[in-house]
Amino acid sequence: MKSISVKSQILGRSVRYFKEIASTNDLACRMARVGYEEGTLIIAEHQTAGKGRLGRSWLSPEGGVYLSLILRPMIEPDSMPILTMLAGVATAKAIRRITNLEAVLKWPNDILINNKKVSGILAEMEVEAGIPHFVILGIGINANIETGILRLKNATSLMDEMGEGIDRRELIKELLVGIEDLYLPFKEHHDHSHILREWEGLDSTFGRMVKVKTLTGVLEGKAEGIDKDGAMRILLPNGEIKRLKAGEVIS
Ligand code: BTN
Repeated sequence: MKSISVKSQILGRSVRYFKEIASTNDLACRMARVGYEEGTLIIAEHQTAGKGRLGRSWLSPEGGVYLSLILRPMIEPDSMPILTMLAGVATAKAIRRITNLEAVLKWPNDILINNKKVSGILAEMEVEAGIPHFVILGIGINANIETGILRLKNATSLMDEMGEGIDRRELIKELLVGIEDLYLPFKEHHDHSHILREWEGLDSTFGRMVKVKTLTGVLEGKAEGIDKDGAMRILLPNGEIKRLKAGEVIS
C-alpha cells in the first residue's frame, strides 16, 4: 500500500507511510506540533500501540486500515464531536461504496456492520489559548483481517463480511474524498447541518430503546437523535429528555 494517488485536493497532499508504528495519532500529534500542514496523512500497516477512545487500545494487525489526518480548522473546542461525526459519516459511506455492505453509525464514534463494530474514530485536539491549534482525526478500519484473531466480542471486518479481501487503497481514496467533501464546507462556513443530516440517515439507534453508559452510570431510554452540538438525546421512561455529551451506547 506504499504509494497512494489520492483524488482529494487537500487531504493526503502529503503522505507518510509506515510499515509499523506505535500509533498514527501520536505521530500525527508530534508532526502537527512542529508545523506539518493541514491534510498531512499518516498511514501504517500495523500499529504496536494503537489507541482507542476512553484510554482503550485499538488492536492493529496487518491487513487493517490505520490512518490519521492533521486538520487545522478555526473552530470552537466544543465543535470536536462534530468532527468525530464527520469522520464517522465519511467512513460509513466509503465502506458502503467500496463493499456494498450496509455500514451504519453508532453514537459517538462507531461504524457497525450487522450490529458488529468494524471501524472506530479517535479525534484528538490540541488547544492554545482557547483556540484549537490542530485536530488529529484518527480512523481505524478492520479491513482485511480475520476478526477471530482479535478475540473481541462484537467485532467484524470487511473481509469477514464479504468473504474476500477488499482493495484498501480504493477504500482510503474514497474515504479521503468523503472527508474532504464534508470538511471543507464546514471549515469555510462554520455550518455543519449537512453533517448532521447525513449522520441521521445512517444512525443505527434512532427511535430504538438503548442503554448508554455515561460518566455517572447507565441510562436506558429511547434514542431521539443527535442535537446540533453532537449531544445524543435520550427520552427517559419518566418523559424527561436527557442530553448526553459523552458516553457510549452499549446496547
Ligand atoms: C475507538 O473506536 O475506540 C477509536 C479507534 C481509533 C483507532 C485509530 S487507528 C488509527 C489511529 N491511530 C490510533 O492510535 N488510533 C486511531
